[in-house]
Amino acid sequence: MKSEQILRKDVSVVQHGHILIDKQWQPSGVTAQFTQDADTYHARYFNRLDFENLLDRMLSLAGICRTARLTILDIGSGGGSSVFAAAKLLPKSHIVGSDISPQLLEKMAAFTASSDEFRDRVSAYCFDLHKPFFRQDSFDAVIGCAILHHLVDPYAALTNVVFALKEGGKVILCEPLEAGNLINAIIYEAVITLQREVGTSVDERLSKLMFAMRCDIFARLGVPEVKPYTRDLDDKWVFDPTYLAGLAKQLGMKNVEVFPVMQDLTTIFETTFRSFLTESGNADIVLPAKVLGLLREFDSGICSSLKSRFCSTGIFVFTK
Ligand SMILES: C[S@@+](CC[C@H](N)C(=O)[O-])C[C@H]1O[C@@H](n2cnc3c(N)ncnc32)[C@H](O)[C@@H]1O
Repeated sequence: MKSEQILRKDVSVVQHGHILIDKQWQPSGVTAQFTQDADTYHARYFNRLDFENLLDRMLSLAGICRTARLTILDIGSGGGSSVFAAAKLLPKSHIVGSDISPQLLEKMAAFTASSDEFRDRVSAYCFDLHKPFFRQDSFDAVIGCAILHHLVDPYAALTNVVFALKEGGKVILCEPLEAGNLINAIIYEAVITLQREVGTSVDERLSKLMFAMRCDIFARLGVPEVKPYTRDLDDKWVFDPTYLAGLAKQLGMKNVEVFPVMQDLTTIFETTFRSFLTESGNADIVLPAKVLGLLREFDSGICSSLKSRFCSTGIFVFTK
């Protein structure tokens, strides 16, 4: 796909290796984790999730036709996990990957260039989503995994994204939810208390992590109100359905639907807690029996219809 077909007339790009970079590119609102330290980030997270499973659920919830010849924009592509999953699941479509980090995008583009499966169907653009970049009606759908909560101004960025989306198109995002994270904060506090009771035999990294995560969750409440520290946080927000409904209205979208990312909610609290330990590089922490008992009490004590409100990650489907 030629860049002239999708880029706005007032946007200029330069070729850098395998990617096209906005001439006015600046690394604003993004920390070293995604830029100078991209190697560490990529090694830790590129294969951390089953992205094909995740994308499969996202595309199904949004009713995207798998066999159609679509042009899909992926926002916040990083090293390309969601881009390659989408390219596999939509074999006739072209996927436009995008990110503010040239370092991460270069990894995605290098892999694309080396692959017969993806070379002609995946392209890569480096720019800040807060800036208008693509032409009107360029894309049939927009996808994004863990991007909206990194943006200082989700409304400004989505305005640009929605402008480039065709009428009837979907914006499908996978992002953190407030209610589930607040329940997690309650669980973390209970773990700290239990650990005090169990005493020094327990790995002290656990309570340090619990304290840190509680601070992290509380710092991300209140979207879209920017606090003095918001710009310095990588993870800036957790979202709630009321904010999302208002955002959809502001953006002129027909509606937004919010779904839990997990289909099977039976062990949602234990599974989420264990994935958090793994993702934070602490999979080796042995959970005391009392902590396991606590997680299982949450799982067995809360009915599944309520649990669907308490998933800490959601899939949002906006319809234009
Ligand atoms: C958590 S990573 C997600 C990467 C990938 N989608 C995944 O799920 O593995 C968030 C990505 O958003 C990018 N990002 C942050 N702020 C951005 C902005 N203003 N414009 C475009 N991309 C941005 C970061 O560089 C990073 O690659």
